[in-house]
Amino acid sequence: MISAERLRNRSILEILEDYPFTESFFRNNGIEPGEAGSRPEILSLDWQGFFDTIDDEEREHRALDPEHLLVQLAEFVNQMLEFLDEGQQIHSLTILPGTDKSGSPEGFRELVVRTGDVISIVGPTGSGKSRLLGDIEWVARKDTPTGREILINDDSPDPSWRFSGAKKLVAQLSQNMNFVMDLTVREFVELHAESRMVENRAETVDRIIAEANSLAGEPFEAGTAITSLSGGQSRALMIADTAFLSHSPVILIDEIENAGIDRKRALELLIRQEKIVLMATHDPVLALMGDRRIVIRNGGIARVIETSEEERSILSELEELDRTLLSYRTKLRQGESLLA
Ligand SMILES: Nc1ncnc2c1ncn2[C@@H]1O[C@H](COP(=O)(O)OP(=O)(O)O)[C@@H](O)[C@H]1O
Ligand SMILES: [Mg+2]
Repeated sequence: MISAERLRNRSILEILEDYPFTESFFRNNGIEPGEAGSRPEILSLDWQGFFDTIDDEEREHRALDPEHLLVQLAEFVNQMLEFLDEGQQIHSLTILPGTDKSGSPEGFRELVVRTGDVISIVGPTGSGKSRLLGDIEWVARKDTPTGREILINDDSPDPSWRFSGAKKLVAQLSQNMNFVMDLTVREFVELHAESRMVENRAETVDRIIAEANSLAGEPFEAGTAITSLSGGQSRALMIADTAFLSHSPVILIDEIENAGIDRKRALELLIRQEKIVLMATHDPVLALMGDRRIVIRNGGIARVIETSEEERSILSELEELDRTLLSYRTKLRQGESLLA
């Protein structure tokens, strides 16, 4: 915990350097010491010194109360540190067995998934793939229809994983993305980047929009309203956004294949970082990209199969076929001949 008193004695520059995310705190409060680039001496002032540069009348006019702001700043820094830190602390998820749809116990002792693992979940429609993702998202404690229990780091999790909004265990990418906010694509991503305290924000925002465009196949402009994106475009936007801005240590993906996006590239983007990725899929390319695949039958985990070298060699054939298919699809869409 950092106290207001400790912040009081530091220069503005030190505060900004130690806690880059405080830039947004200053900006949101209408004080932008960063803008003093042309007057670097301001940055070397301490809290009181900095406020002394704003004359009384203006301080009054803008209702700036240095003492109150300092307390708020300390609170903000502590919350952010807790939030940024907690996301990194997960190193494993453990699934403890429950029962299948007939009430029979699942035939495994425990299933451990570690950071960096990519796990696919396969099985017929209605077999319980989404249910398994749901159990993980909800950090089940024998209180879901399957009776499964999820441990975090080998331990029963702190209940706050369930309820805290900021400290999010899971980024969920599901079949339906319904935007209700009246924002353009750029505004939406900017808002998110801002709340995530990323450095070089403008660059990240551009990158996310460019990646989303390359995933989507049908391009869209940064100024497009998010409510008017097609299903595939909004999916692509959420994937790019999650890949670059999510601090969640676990990513759950529920059948992204039907969204008309470059799903292999999407998955590559998402697994670039050290996270736990679980994805339900019917797509052989995606299924084989997992290190292991969980086979679900009648609501229960029936098997866990390690992806073998032989299977991986099939994967490269599949990818080749997939690229051909994708290029034909693109040509058809763009009204070209397949023979061109
Ligand atoms: N072990 C289980 N016990 C009871 N109900 C289950 C179990 N597994 C899945 N279900 C239920 O079966 C239905 C279909 O499961 P779902 O996860 O949507 O299938 P999928 O995603 O594979 O198509 C859901 O209503 C789900 O809650
Ligand atoms: Mg499903």
